[in-house]
Amino acid sequence: MNAAFTRQFGSPDVLEIRQVAPPEVGDTDVLVQVHAVAVTAGDLRLRAADFPAATALVGRLMFGFTRPRVPVQGTMFSGVVVQVGEGVTRFDVGDEVFGSAANGAYAEQLVMAEAGPIARKPASVSHTEAASAPYGAGTALHFLRDVVDVQADEHVLVVGGSGGVGRAAISIAKHLGAEVTAVGSASSHDLMRRLGADHVVDYRTEDVLDGRRRFDVVFDIADTAPFARARRVLAPTGRYVTLYLTIGVLWQALTSALGRGPRAHAGVAMPDQQTVETLADWLADGTLHPVVAETLPLERIADAHRLAEQGVHGDVVVCPTSAARLAAVG
Ligand SMILES: NC(=O)c1ccc[n+]([C@@H]2O[C@H](COP(=O)([O-])OP(=O)(O)OC[C@H]3O[C@@H](n4cnc5c(N)ncnc54)[C@H](OP(=O)(O)O)[C@@H]3O)[C@@H](O)[C@H]2O)c1
Repeated sequence: MNAAFTRQFGSPDVLEIRQVAPPEVGDTDVLVQVHAVAVTAGDLRLRAADFPAATALVGRLMFGFTRPRVPVQGTMFSGVVVQVGEGVTRFDVGDEVFGSAANGAYAEQLVMAEAGPIARKPASVSHTEAASAPYGAGTALHFLRDVVDVQADEHVLVVGGSGGVGRAAISIAKHLGAEVTAVGSASSHDLMRRLGADHVVDYRTEDVLDGRRRFDVVFDIADTAPFARARRVLAPTGRYVTLYLTIGVLWQALTSALGRGPRAHAGVAMPDQQTVETLADWLADGTLHPVVAETLPLERIADAHRLAEQGVHGDVVVCPTSAARLAAVG
């Protein structure tokens, strides 16, 4: 089968299409014909071995020192089950599914454990929309609900509201009943308002942490609102959360947990099955609004990475299965 192969760490030029053996299907696995896979900021980092701060050593240990440990990358997929293992009870051949793989989704076929982060795709959304959901929405759900426990009527600041995580963070914070202020460049303000933001701020012309506004939660997605500054605009019971794990933030998380006042949090989101089931419900009932900026065939994976690196205000999705093959396998 065709797959996008990352032969070494580097620029998008390291991505090439190769023929690889189809994955083996175990007793409790399903084989998915991949119709769409999102190109996420995580994929860009992994391709370039660009692991931030405190995760640098762990990143190299997990993903490879000199070249990618697993050359077929890609995680957030949507497709159709074409084979099930003998012990599978959750899915049948023909089911439309989506989810979050550890890797291997930049390929025509992908194996997932039926007990893993995979769920039925709602019929009302396309494969490209479904593939774009688990990354941003899975991350935002984890941090906003499970880590900082956003409550109705709280004021949430989303720094980086126009990006992959931020767009979903706006929708999820609104769903949790919060008032939302979202920060992004001026060209993203209409989009952020459409997603539900009550207030929008252009980081090029205004400092949202200048003390004129108060927040219960600061979600720093862009890595531009450090806790030392954010704590001054947080309520005494306020919570700060960042996607960037540094030694400094880990220290702030520890010391703020022991003292009074706002608390700092950081971590890594890994969608589980329950998360993907929740996202399926939210895609079906319109809580989430996937924004797909561009869809390209798998053969143009390098262009897809280049486009995603430019920072378009929407997800870039690649389609591994050609139209002709889709007609054959369904
Ligand atoms: N820890 C975890 O588990 C986890 C999970 C997912 C992602 N991440 C990391 O989180 C980061 C963000 O991911 P993403 O997909 O949301 O990235 P993205 O799509 O590139 O979005 C970046 C956002 O930051 C905004 N921004 C840029 N410069 C800014 C500034 N000076 N001040 C305020 N906002 C600014 C951008 O606004 P404009 O585009 O409008 O300029 C955009 O909204 C990535 O580095 C990713 O690796 C971590």
